[in-house]
Amino acid sequence: MTSRRFTLRLEPLGRTIDVDEDASLMESAARAGIRLPASCRNGTCRACMCRLVAGEVRYRIEWPGLTAEEKRDGWVLPCVATPASDVTLDQPAATAETPAARRTPSRGF
Ligand code: FES
Repeated sequence: MTSRRFTLRLEPLGRTIDVDEDASLMESAARAGIRLPASCRNGTCRACMCRLVAGEVRYRIEWPGLTAEEKRDGWVLPCVATPASDVTLDQPAATAETPAARRTPSRGF
């Protein structure tokens, strides 16, 4: 069975990418060369927290590190959120890697 595909729009970066319903929004962004703020990548630290402008998400874990009020107000955790529709996120800290940057090996710091 193949999984469904949606789109993820990142603002204010202005990029739209294809996302797989089985992959977290952060994983799909990384595959497309877009870096989102992150630390734990398991829904607890809230470093990736940003606003869902449009669309719906699901969570891989029972209770991601958001309060009910934060969820109601549109905050999401893209490290553990998967798309349930086409999605638009407002994440001013998102950055797109250039092709040259992707080829540059790490210097360890
Ligand atoms: S990276 Fe820690 S909650 Fe998303």
